[in-house]
Amino acid sequence: MKNTVSTLLKQKQSGDKITMLTAYDYTTAKIFDECGVNAILIGDSLGMVMLGYENTLPVTMEDMIHHTAAVSRAAENAFVVADMPFMSYQTNIYDAVVNAGRLIKEGGANAVKLEGGAEVCEQIKAIVNASIPVVAHLGLTPQSVNAFGGFKVQGKSLDKAEKLIDDAMKIQEAGACAVVLEGIPAKIAKIITKKLFIPTIGIGAGSQCDGQVLVYQDMLGLTTGHTPKFVKVFAQAGELIRKGVSDYISETKEGAFPAEEHTYSIDENILKELTEKYE
Ligand code: KIV
Repeated sequence: MKNTVSTLLKQKQSGDKITMLTAYDYTTAKIFDECGVNAILIGDSLGMVMLGYENTLPVTMEDMIHHTAAVSRAAENAFVVADMPFMSYQTNIYDAVVNAGRLIKEGGANAVKLEGGAEVCEQIKAIVNASIPVVAHLGLTPQSVNAFGGFKVQGKSLDKAEKLIDDAMKIQEAGACAVVLEGIPAKIAKIITKKLFIPTIGIGAGSQCDGQVLVYQDMLGLTTGHTPKFVKVFAQAGELIRKGVSDYISETKEGAFPAEEHTYSIDENILKELTEKYE
């Protein structure tokens, strides 16, 4: 059964934790969908983990549509959420609705996600009025990396924490169907989760959120370099891949691959004729 906005809402109401993972391609999304993840996010993190940019800012609508369409083709059950990239909704309400519409029409997403609180409520209202579910995103919102002066935990001072709580109320009023809480103290996420009737999905926001989301390269040990404190590596897939590739290189060089079982045969009589003619 395809998960919908109502599935996620019911999960909050019944205390069944929502599981969300990022995915950016068909093969990976198919595995996650078959594992039973509730929702798949085509995050604009694809700029960093798939395209090698330093941050998410260069990601375009075309990038998002391309990857969202691949994931949507794989997601039989998971609720598919596509990120609206930087400057695809901040500019004005018209851009927000048109670009959200493209992620649904061309990408096949079930919902869009955008970053920000009070300042994007008009955009949220307009997109929701166009019958497109919106997931909001508060806290350490990566599209604001320059404004924050780096990837820093948000909401630690009294006024910043109060602003987060106020923003959460405002995005809910504007019609958001869920909110991602990223990089904020667990106790603030708990307060927000209790206050809202829509589900909160945390990343670096503690265990009291209604669900969790992780970037799959982080949780499967594929990321090299720094991984944030909130990441748990559930499987060392990076090591498995390295071993597979090294074995392939050495077996190919040694002539051990391909073996008999990887090779196509030909009728002996045809072969005899061919060898007589060509050898
Ligand atoms: O882009 C992304 O992957 C995200 C998650 C970190 C929530 O927004």
